[in-house]
Amino acid sequence: MAELIDIGSVEDFPVGTAKRVAVGDQVVAVVHAIEGLFAIEDRCSHADVALSEGEIDGCTIECWLHGSAFDLTTGQPLSLPAITPVFVFQAFVTQSDGGDRVLIDPSPVAHAEPAPVHIHSKSDL
Ligand code: FES
Repeated sequence: MAELIDIGSVEDFPVGTAKRVAVGDQVVAVVHAIEGLFAIEDRCSHADVALSEGEIDGCTIECWLHGSAFDLTTGQPLSLPAITPVFVFQAFVTQSDGGDRVLIDPSPVAHAEPAPVHIHSKSDL
């Protein structure tokens, strides 16, 4: 694990919001879903737009441009048109005298290869 980077107070990341944050040389979307705090590469793998401007739905975030949903825990796309995962990062909350702080490991978590997309013609089904 790389040295954790303090990106601010937990209060800077209200539940239900996603915020674009620079973490070292990475640009990360810090997403505070009801299910927890997540950190994901802030770049849709389909085109170069910010996922932090998308809509949070449970443990997913939906790209605002064409609607691919990404799993916040794995970075895997769950719907087309994106077929390539994005990086995820480990996020931690730690207590300090000044209040709870959000820390991010700037090293992305390795992810599995994307699941192959099978395209069938009508005659295959
Ligand atoms: S740019 Fe994100 S799904 Fe197309």
